[in-house]
Amino acid sequence: MCGIIGYIGSRDATPILLESLKKLEYRGYDSSGVAVLDHHPHLIVRKSKGKIKNLEELLCTKPVPFSNLGVSHTRWATHGLPCDENAHPHTDNAHRIAVVHNGIIENYAQLKEKLKRQDCHFVSQTDTEVIAHLISVLYKGDLKTAVYKAIAQLKGAFAIGVISKDHPDLLVAARVGSPLIIGLGDKENYIASDVPAILDRTRRVIYLKDGQVAFLSKDKVEVFTFEGKKVTPKIDTVSFSIGSAQKDGYDHFMLKEIHEQPQVLSAMLKYRLPKGKLKLEGLTVSDEILNSIKKITIVACGTAYHAGLVGKYIIEDMARLMTEVDTSSEFRYRKPIVDKNTLIIAVSQSGETADTLAAVREAKAQGAKVVSICNVIGSSLARESDGVLYTHAGPEIGVASTKAYTAQLMMFYLLGLKLAHTRHAVTPARLKRLVKDLQNIPYLYKGLLKKRSMILKIAEANSHFGCFLYLGRNINYPTALEGALKLKEISYIPAEGYAAGEMKHGPIALIDEYRAVVCVALQSHVYEKMISNIQEIRARKGNVIAIATEGDKEIAHHAHYVIDIPAVEELLTPLLAIIPLQLIAYYIAVKRGNDVDQPRNLAKSVTVE
Ligand code: AGP
Repeated sequence: MCGIIGYIGSRDATPILLESLKKLEYRGYDSSGVAVLDHHPHLIVRKSKGKIKNLEELLCTKPVPFSNLGVSHTRWATHGLPCDENAHPHTDNAHRIAVVHNGIIENYAQLKEKLKRQDCHFVSQTDTEVIAHLISVLYKGDLKTAVYKAIAQLKGAFAIGVISKDHPDLLVAARVGSPLIIGLGDKENYIASDVPAILDRTRRVIYLKDGQVAFLSKDKVEVFTFEGKKVTPKIDTVSFSIGSAQKDGYDHFMLKEIHEQPQVLSAMLKYRLPKGKLKLEGLTVSDEILNSIKKITIVACGTAYHAGLVGKYIIEDMARLMTEVDTSSEFRYRKPIVDKNTLIIAVSQSGETADTLAAVREAKAQGAKVVSICNVIGSSLARESDGVLYTHAGPEIGVASTKAYTAQLMMFYLLGLKLAHTRHAVTPARLKRLVKDLQNIPYLYKGLLKKRSMILKIAEANSHFGCFLYLGRNINYPTALEGALKLKEISYIPAEGYAAGEMKHGPIALIDEYRAVVCVALQSHVYEKMISNIQEIRARKGNVIAIATEGDKEIAHHAHYVIDIPAVEELLTPLLAIIPLQLIAYYIAVKRGNDVDQPRNLAKSVTVE
């Protein structure tokens, strides 16, 4: 993962680098650093463990001189603990070369051994440090040649930014497998891991391609292949804006984003279902193809994968079309059966998740069409897909995904409507009813969110439990998975989601008076089955929090706590049932004093395998 940024121009690099770096903090936040050239010239490096604010504090006590050239980095540890030494930029022993890197150098151990034999002294445990030493031993006065020779020896994924004290007018960038863009300014140029980092400075960008290296001065950008062939890169003008994300009085971005869900869905419906007429702009797959496909395969990771699991129930129910769901990291390595009759749906909030991008490339190579459901406009996934359905949920800052998830669900309902209509799979009357019910969801959210103080009390009363189980059936089995993921990622409490019917096959061994079990037990054709499962938990002294349907009088006899949600058609319940689970996770994490928006060990966007 990690975010990198580089600047070359006439202004002072450090404040520009820091401002841009903050926009990349979603890519990792365990340490950060900056390297600039002073006028001697010397390389000046400052690094600090922890968030970017620690680096800012360090730069106040140990400022760096004015400089026209610099690189900066925010890290998510892959090799080596988060600490000052492992923070980027990394330098060679002569302090001549500084490197920032996003990705993983898979052959770093072999290279390190070789470089040690050439008297290189390593100060960190990172894979990145080998790049600095390698360039250094290959350096014979020409940085460009040394970088060419070094990248020829690297295996794995990398986006790098390189500067040298011998070349005050040169910023070098290269990429394979990790994103890197070049921003073109007026007598200044940038490299960055993604567009938002530089969007308030320039809108003219080059998306560097795999196997390309770029040489930047303040007046010029030249791009070559790794083989040294000059290419004329396409210059894109970015038209989208990044809304500035503020907490607007909420204690955390996560809480704000939970509360934004009614507006997000209402805006989506207004745009995608104006006057009840479906408008899936961006889908780009013809009705003919939608009619001819034999199978849909959904690929995604984490929360987006859970949205995909709900998507399977929706598409199979509404369109009667076989749908499978795979985590991207499994799909890409399992010899998937994909052909021109398969439609791939890739789901990703960020559109930068490395495994999902790799899965999409694999599927495209096998002839499948790819449509992505994506939130970030202009992201790598959006650019690489045949069609893209933007969720337009706005910037999601909290690492724990909330509004992006419900927006992804909504997109699956809309896609379900489209497939059902095109394939004549449901009656016009049912379609009409579904449209009406979907349009009502944002209003129901508002009422549901008003129950937050009751949910807060239940969350606090259960926050001492050391282990949680989440159970659901049918279309709310993925809701249970997502509820458990939310809890574990921000509260650090072990939590597992299960299909309730699976409980007897193992997880029931966990149940005793020290466990909390969240059961999604809504009025549906599996309600009675859920009640039996709850009884089994009670018989073993487990503490039950039930998510039930408003008006259900019986459930209170079975559960310790009941949170009820409005009654809607069973197919639509995942949109509502997840809201209390998001709030439970949030309030428990707050009660435990955790950093809700930037939980330990995580990053918003996972750009490494
Ligand atoms: C969600 O709360 C997680 N932080 C994580 O699972 C996330 O959904 C996953 O990494 C996928 O990200 P994407 O949607 O940006 O591809």
